[in-house]
Amino acid sequence: MAIIYPDISRTFSEYLLLPNLTTKDCTPENIDLRTPITKFAKGEKPAITLNIPIVSAIMQAVSNDTLAIALAKCGGLSFIYCSQPIEEQAEMVRKVKKHKSGFVVSDSNVSVNHTLRDVLAIKEKTGHSTIAVTDDGTANGKLLGIVTGRDYRLSRDPLDKKVSEFMTPFKDLIVGYVGITLSEANDIIWEHKLNALPIIDKDQRLQYLVFRKDYEEHKQNPLQLMDDKKRLMVGAGINTRDYKERVPALLEAEVDILCVDSSDGFSEYQRETIQYIKENYPDAKIGGGNVVDREGFMYLVESGADFVKVGIGGGSICITREQKGIGRGQASAVIEVAQARDEYFEKTGIYIPICSDGGIVHDYHVTLALAMGADFVMMGRYFARFDESPNKKVKRGNSYVKEYWGEGSNRARNWQRYDQGGSVHMKFEEGVDSYVPYAGKLKDNLEVTLSKIRSTMSSCGAKSIKHLQETARLVLVSSTSLIEGGAHDIILKDSEY
Ligand code: IMP
Repeated sequence: MAIIYPDISRTFSEYLLLPNLTTKDCTPENIDLRTPITKFAKGEKPAITLNIPIVSAIMQAVSNDTLAIALAKCGGLSFIYCSQPIEEQAEMVRKVKKHKSGFVVSDSNVSVNHTLRDVLAIKEKTGHSTIAVTDDGTANGKLLGIVTGRDYRLSRDPLDKKVSEFMTPFKDLIVGYVGITLSEANDIIWEHKLNALPIIDKDQRLQYLVFRKDYEEHKQNPLQLMDDKKRLMVGAGINTRDYKERVPALLEAEVDILCVDSSDGFSEYQRETIQYIKENYPDAKIGGGNVVDREGFMYLVESGADFVKVGIGGGSICITREQKGIGRGQASAVIEVAQARDEYFEKTGIYIPICSDGGIVHDYHVTLALAMGADFVMMGRYFARFDESPNKKVKRGNSYVKEYWGEGSNRARNWQRYDQGGSVHMKFEEGVDSYVPYAGKLKDNLEVTLSKIRSTMSSCGAKSIKHLQETARLVLVSSTSLIEGGAHDIILKDSEY
């Protein structure tokens, strides 16, 4: 006989947080939003820690390189969508990894034997006017000099003039050494009125360049999520069909973390995919999902997942529940999976972060998801509203909207996401094509969201996400108290009534 669960499937809006004692040291500025995204053993550190508990959805309308750069600068991470050719996805990853964020690996380099013609060609191609001269013409060769626009005069110098004849040689350069902080590099840049400071190792090999303008930008983004080479971090979605070709291409592009993009992760296809990656690329980090209960969670953990994504049917563009009758209220799903995660940690000493994916409508839903046990949340609709997402902005009536479509809609045709074997093409859609209100820049909106999360955590007396998970008190709300919670029984000044 089928198992009928007696408990109700609940959503975020059915809960509220009770305030706990706010201690004087628990100010919003003191709240630490860092959170693990990859599994780790008790007493050890996770390989990757997010600086804010937010990632962007694996969707065509949401996560491309532009959004990934904007979000990583604010401390979060994007998973570049996989419903596109492998090479195009890998190129988006490459663009994020090459983006300048303080310490830049120089991609415009020459050797002393190159000519002014070569310098101009590089400048034309990359748009960079600071070109490093190294013994072998590579980004990590021995630094022999620098060429900038100040070193040559186009009206006078012949195009075949050798770089060695006009570069500023090493002996005249001001340089920094590996280990220098960005702020120390900036002091040198200002003191000597430089545009760029080369950073070298003890053997004079070039490591990075620090540019004056990048430092200014970096200062405005103190939470930037960076890898150990000081590059922005980025994730990528994969599917259970072409992973044997897609994963090596993404790893070659130096992606930081992968995630299987699937509406239902409790499947042998997903287990095979994760196991193949763990066997063939043991250092690669891979998340699995989506699941909504303890059984699904344990299946993916035992398959080797580094994190597990939770949620079926809660996405704003999702019609899975209507079409197939499967899914679970997002709050109930997160609460059960978080309990399973904690029990697994208790038993094995291994912590598997979980991500609440889909169904975040209000900013406070993020804090509720964290309080219920999520380590981070994934959002699609939220990010689709911003300038940086790749979807089109259009005018509707007097306001602007942006297009937002599900990966399971005919428009995205991401049928790999719904893998149940057999034909790749499904006969019905699991997502819709829609509009969302345009909201401007990612950073401006995210700052508001984060300040609300911090403020709620302060009211709950929680200085970290872990603290919130351990001490939060959640209550169910009645439908009548929902009315009480909004503005009620007054006449709003900007309404027509
Ligand atoms: P949102 O933040 O509520 O818009 O939800 C985004 C999430 O919806 C994604 O991260 C996916 O898990 C899920 N999703 C994306 N496309 C579809 C679809 O076409 N059908 C069902 N779920 C989808």
